[in-house]
Amino acid sequence: MTGPRLHSRYPALAPRLPFLPLGAGPTPVRRIDPDDLWVKDDSRYGHRYGGNKVRKLEWSLADLLRRRCRVVVTGGGTGSHHAVAVARYAADAGIRAHVVAVEQPYDEHVEEQMAAVLAAGATMHRVDTVSGAYLTAGRLLVGAALRGHRPGLLPVGGSNAHGCLGFVEAALELAEQVAAGELPAPRRVVVPVGSGGTAAGLILGLALAGLPTGVVGILVNDRTRVGPVQVRRLATATARLLRRHGAPVPAALALAPFDLRREWLGPGYGMPSGPSVEAAGWLRDHAGVVADPVYTAKTAAAIRDLYGGPDVSGPTLYWHTAPGAAG
Ligand SMILES: Cc1ncc(COP(=O)(O)O)c(C=O)c1O
Repeated sequence: MTGPRLHSRYPALAPRLPFLPLGAGPTPVRRIDPDDLWVKDDSRYGHRYGGNKVRKLEWSLADLLRRRCRVVVTGGGTGSHHAVAVARYAADAGIRAHVVAVEQPYDEHVEEQMAAVLAAGATMHRVDTVSGAYLTAGRLLVGAALRGHRPGLLPVGGSNAHGCLGFVEAALELAEQVAAGELPAPRRVVVPVGSGGTAAGLILGLALAGLPTGVVGILVNDRTRVGPVQVRRLATATARLLRRHGAPVPAALALAPFDLRREWLGPGYGMPSGPSVEAAGWLRDHAGVVADPVYTAKTAAAIRDLYGGPDVSGPTLYWHTAPGAAG
């Protein structure tokens, strides 16, 4: 594994922020026939595990390494992709991972994610409630600090300002693909919203890239409070982080428009809905990507309902965030 280097693939973006390369862009874009619907497929972005979490870790793990943390505490549901990504990439970087996992409806997918976390050598602490997760995380951080291990905290979904930089950069990557004629400038990008960092990075990055593109977030999480205010706040904190480190982010920059849709949540976080199960098959047949049940299947249901017909104004880009096979 390479150590952190001093800048990303876009040196002007963050010349003084550490970056740990874990994946290779640009990720592929293709048209989903027959409509003006496109997919950008991040499922194989990382070399050890794909999906949206890897782009975040390129920045947030680099920051932990810069701070010489030897232990990281993070959290999520028992089926969290973020937890698997942290467990694998932190182990590679020589950081011991503790995952505080809140119980979610148990199924085969959850079982696979938990097995992957443990196989990577992380310690899992299962709790029943979100408040229990905060208590456990606090206890682990204090315990590690008392042992002199320099602990770092990665919030649920990896959505802190450093993590969001991954999707600022991803928006710049998309702008290059548009400039190269691989796809038209999308009118909107559609992504699932769990902790909100993916959407936050995109609304900042699309604005920085000068694309005429808004973000439509499909909410799949009702366990923690995530709404437009939290997403914009995260984007603003990310812009501040960039400015503090010498990036040319205008103080008056207007974030890209953001619309959060809640109608496809179904019975709740981690609980499949009839439309989401069906839409996963539709996505596989039309876009050639495999949806996970918690995030992307619900987003697929929204896309099919909102943008799957002929009467949609302007191109729509579905940003596929689920990891490929968890090899
Ligand atoms: C596959 C997948 N898509 C989307 C998301 C949501 O991303 P975010 O937490 O940045 O909103 C997650 C994790 O939360 C995820 O695992």
